[in-house]
Amino acid sequence: MTSPLASTRSVPPPRSARPLRLGVLLSGSGTNFQAILDAIDEQRLDAKVSVVISNVASAGGLERAKRKDIPAIVIDHRRYGNRKDFDAAVVEVLEGHGVDYVVLAGFMRVLTNVLLDAFPTRVVNIHPALLPAFPGLNAQSQAFAYGVRVAGCTVHFVDAGTDTGPIIAQAVVPVRNDDDDESLRQRILRAEHKLLPTVLQWIGEGRVTAKPGPKGNDRARVVLDGVEGAFLFDDP
Ligand code: GAR
Repeated sequence: MTSPLASTRSVPPPRSARPLRLGVLLSGSGTNFQAILDAIDEQRLDAKVSVVISNVASAGGLERAKRKDIPAIVIDHRRYGNRKDFDAAVVEVLEGHGVDYVVLAGFMRVLTNVLLDAFPTRVVNIHPALLPAFPGLNAQSQAFAYGVRVAGCTVHFVDAGTDTGPIIAQAVVPVRNDDDDESLRQRILRAEHKLLPTVLQWIGEGRVTAKPGPKGNDRARVVLDGVEGAFLFDDP
């Protein structure tokens, strides 16, 4: 099935009469989820997290949700025979909580069109690399081992590939001579914590749209404030 991101129609921005109702999917400690919560508390992000879903019962992000009285739901992927059935269970919970935008904040599963079609151009992911370099797992370690001189993170619309969807924004950080794997990971993570809430706020304000790619290229282009092309942050 064709991804909604590959369609030829322009995608309207979501309405902004009320705060964005976010569904957050995560698999780990949830520091990016925490950055969303902090941005909401500090009124940098006009949004409400309606539900948090994790495929991992021990994910620290679930505790962060509970502390804020946000419904925290475990949907263990191992209980489903295939990815589509797992995604259908996730969609049911998201729809049950009135979610209008889905954020993958350290969610380590590839989505199928079951979820993507339920939320067309309403799913974003944060990835700890300057895509299309270093997709997949352990992106920061991949970058460090490769010897890149700049690294960073990317927020992008999600399609059915692994970290392949249209890029909305990227933040760049330097790789310093005395870095090791962990110090680079932490520097990228600090950038993630700024970039993700910022992009969500742009989305809530209706400033981010997607338009068809040029002829012969069905990859959608992201438009921010009427200007095509991903936004680049300075060294945070
Ligand atoms: C973050 O670095 C995020 O970019 C990455 O997982 C980490 C989750 O940290 N996501 C991916 O690698 C997805 N391909 P967190 O749980 O502390 O937010």
